[in-house]
Amino acid sequence: MGNQITKYSEELYNYRVETMTPMSSAFNELADYADTLPNSRMRTSHDAAGAIRVVCQLVGARKVLDIGTFTGCSAIVAAEQVSDSGKVITCDKDATHQEVFEKVFAAAGLDQVIDFVNKPAMEVIDELLASEETGTFDVVFLDADKHNYQSYFDKCLDLVRTGGAVIVDDTLWMGKVVEESDTEDTRLAAMLEFNEKMSNDTRVTNLVLPIGNGVTIAVKQPVSG
Ligand SMILES: C[S@@+](CC[C@H](N)C(=O)[O-])C[C@H]1O[C@@H](n2cnc3c(N)ncnc32)[C@H](O)[C@@H]1O
Repeated sequence: MGNQITKYSEELYNYRVETMTPMSSAFNELADYADTLPNSRMRTSHDAAGAIRVVCQLVGARKVLDIGTFTGCSAIVAAEQVSDSGKVITCDKDATHQEVFEKVFAAAGLDQVIDFVNKPAMEVIDELLASEETGTFDVVFLDADKHNYQSYFDKCLDLVRTGGAVIVDDTLWMGKVVEESDTEDTRLAAMLEFNEKMSNDTRVTNLVLPIGNGVTIAVKQPVSG
């Protein structure tokens, strides 16, 4: 049936992770570290990381922007896909885990590939746009500050080349996007507005995947006319 939705039990999630190409030991080390933290639910899940990996490979990514570093899971999976001469810029306003992830990046031989910028995302994006990096990124992974997703997305679309992709995490917001509206949850409202706009955004072809907490992949289309 075309409209059948698979409900993911924990068993099925585990099965999916077991049957996908395993993540690297460096990724697992950062994920395991994240899982010891009280806010571990923030970390990129294995299946969402798998999506980053596949998209980077499909577009032949060499330059990636990762918005929201946390313990470095999304940054390392992106860095593993770009060649030695590639670059991953990852930013976070909070540098609490910097010592941990920098050690893992170095041990994996990826410290020259990944640049961590300890600044608010908007500042980082605006600086990249101001320094003529428009259209030079292959992939952006957007995973911070849900209230500003639309502004980040619009600006990141300028940073990405035609045929490149913006991957947006958390777009199904724990399934709440189709549940009775929770007026207290301002991030849910932001996500609903973002998803609505995305469905009419002709600048991209997008797909919302029921993996992780909902992952939208938007591929930048050529400007028509
Ligand atoms: C969901 S976590 C990112 C998870 C990460 N991508 C991973 O692979 O595990 C969100 C991160 O965004 C950071 N953050 C929140 N608001 C931000 C902002 N305005 N600018 C930069 N970082 C921000 C938080 O400090 C947090 O570490």
